[in-house]
Amino acid sequence: MLKPNKLAKKNFLSSLDMTTEELINVLDIAEKIKEKNFNFESNNKVLGLIFDKSSTRTRVSFQVAMSRIGGTTIDLNPTTSQIGRGEPIKDTARVLSRYCDVLAIRTFNHTDLEEYAKWSTKPVINALTDLEHPCQALADFLTIKEEFIDFKNVVLSFIGDGNNVANSLIFCGALLGVEVRIACPKGFEPNPLVINKAYEIYKNKNLLKITNDIESAVSGSNVLYTDVWSSMGEEDQKEYKDKVFNGFTIDSNLVKKAEKDAIVLHCLPAYRSKEISDEVIESKNSRIFEQAENRMHVQQSLLACLLS
Ligand code: CP
Ligand code: NVA
Repeated sequence: MLKPNKLAKKNFLSSLDMTTEELINVLDIAEKIKEKNFNFESNNKVLGLIFDKSSTRTRVSFQVAMSRIGGTTIDLNPTTSQIGRGEPIKDTARVLSRYCDVLAIRTFNHTDLEEYAKWSTKPVINALTDLEHPCQALADFLTIKEEFIDFKNVVLSFIGDGNNVANSLIFCGALLGVEVRIACPKGFEPNPLVINKAYEIYKNKNLLKITNDIESAVSGSNVLYTDVWSSMGEEDQKEYKDKVFNGFTIDSNLVKKAEKDAIVLHCLPAYRSKEISDEVIESKNSRIFEQAENRMHVQQSLLACLLS
């Protein structure tokens, strides 16, 4: 019988905090949860949410996931807690881990998240940092699995900024042996440390390609994926990035250049007509809202694995 495997690592800060086996287990359980074929009771566990940046999907999907496993959440708004005042992370983390059973944190610097994890005695989940968005990648690969049954021969092309979302896709792709192509403007390639780490994991090094050429990235691809050109915290770069990324839009013409039944993903929120056209979001190729729903199922599964 399928059981949630307790993760070997205490925290989920990076997609690479899971082994391939653990990742497959989380996805398998998420599928069962979605089919209403899996039950896990958390026995009143409490998830603390610390969000230094805005969130709709991550916040609400964690809240619903926690309530579905018989737990509760506390949403810690930095401006009404002492976090916004600048209380040291090492103090906040030690206090909150005496009240809560698990923490999900969205913040700017990944090193701040690591500082929380260092001082918290309870598991810490990355709810997005500048470096990674590992919960998002879980939902993305569940959506891909639902469509293609397994990951064999799937080609995933990410068109846009080599950012947090792209980094976690690369890591999960490496763990699952999925071909990942990243097409971005020159100078916006993913962090070289991420690329090098991924190459160390990929058994077949040809399965990761970083390019500035959209057409070659999309040809023969099964999954087209994009994210905003300017992430939260980059508002002052918007005008400049809009110019640099001009042409890196997933529109109907680009979708036609991929495989016939290619699906389109976007982590949301989107800027329609910038990184993706309105028409593509609403098209039959789009799995964007299934993907958003899957956030809830994978996070319920992740919580079961961290709390069991
Ligand atoms: N995709 C995602 O993380 O959305 P939110 O910013 O709404 O949480
Ligand atoms: N790259 C985006 C993702 C939002 C879910 C950001 O960091 O703002």
